[in-house]
Amino acid sequence: MDYTTLGSTGLEVSRLCLGCMNFGSEEPWMLDNREESKAVIERAIDQGINFFDTANVYSRGESEAILGEALAGRREESVIATKVHGRMREGPNGQGLSRRHVLEQAEASLGRLGTEYIDLYQIHRWDDSTPITETLSALDTLVGEGRVRYVGASTMPAWKFAKALYEADLDNRERFVSMQCEYNLLDRHEEQNVLPLCRDQDIGVIPWSPLAGGFLADKYDREEEPEDGRAATDDRTRGRFTEENWAVLDVVRDLAAEKDVSPVELSIAWLLHKPMVDAPIIGPRTIEQLDGTVGALDVSLTDEEVERLEAPKDPVWSRAIGDV
Ligand SMILES: NC(=O)c1ccc[n+]([C@@H]2O[C@H](COP(=O)([O-])OP(=O)(O)OC[C@H]3O[C@@H](n4cnc5c(N)ncnc54)[C@H](OP(=O)(O)O)[C@@H]3O)[C@@H](O)[C@H]2O)c1
Repeated sequence: MDYTTLGSTGLEVSRLCLGCMNFGSEEPWMLDNREESKAVIERAIDQGINFFDTANVYSRGESEAILGEALAGRREESVIATKVHGRMREGPNGQGLSRRHVLEQAEASLGRLGTEYIDLYQIHRWDDSTPITETLSALDTLVGEGRVRYVGASTMPAWKFAKALYEADLDNRERFVSMQCEYNLLDRHEEQNVLPLCRDQDIGVIPWSPLAGGFLADKYDREEEPEDGRAATDDRTRGRFTEENWAVLDVVRDLAAEKDVSPVELSIAWLLHKPMVDAPIIGPRTIEQLDGTVGALDVSLTDEEVERLEAPKDPVWSRAIGDV
């Protein structure tokens, strides 16, 4: 395994972060098996992965609880990232980034994860109903109390993220050290949004859905409706079945064959070659998928190969995408 430091911090993380969204039962495409989930996490540890990403909202706490069980007794070697914002219960104060909800949810996440502290506490989305200064003050409290080590953000328009960084500097609050955004060979819209800001501000980038929900694993056919895999029941993944995206996959397939690597390894390697990317958040559902991903660390790409992979698509930012 290779390691890097997250953004401008001294926090050492593996260059692959294990995403834990698949570990739960909320959606039909999830693993829905506690023991198998823990086996994937244990295999990741054996591979040298020390960086794990989850969220309070993933299967309403189930993912955090599974990760906590798997990491029991191994807390010191692990870097745990989780998130707050999504709805955790119906009614007032059941979601968002108010001081009330953030402090309550941090305690709940700590309990489920079975830990005294969260390494990276991320705001999952922007909350238009709460002033960012209120959220920053709540995050500051958590860092001051030793419950959180670093704060991060995820998926928002760049101007809002710039405002958050500015307000943190102005009030001498903890600054967001990382941005978790959708980024893969099909979904490159963040090149027109938050990524230039992250490069300028030395913010660590940890891309989600690095395989576009499995599309880049070359498991679907343009002529057939998916019967298995995430695309069979997940509209977001099925929505990627466009002619432009199939054209990207054609290039991925051809270049992978030429280089004698898999489309998965090539797609993840492309992300690892982006200088501002610290660690793609991989989402294997099985041990075999995990084992089939780590080889990406050994794949070298020339500038010409990167250009070839990017040629079929021009990235476009749309507010609708950033506000999902
Ligand atoms: N901040 C956010 O808003 C946000 C949003 C989404 C995700 N995330 C984070 O990012 C992580 C990864 O997201 P993701 O699950 O969408 O990632 P992804 O890598 O784009 O998709 C994962 C899916 O790809 C397929 N796959 C993975 N490795 C494979 C392999 N080696 N061979 C064949 N197929 C493979 C599997 O599909 P099948 O299950 O169909 O086999 C797997 O479920 C999540 O766990 C979560 O931590 C964050």
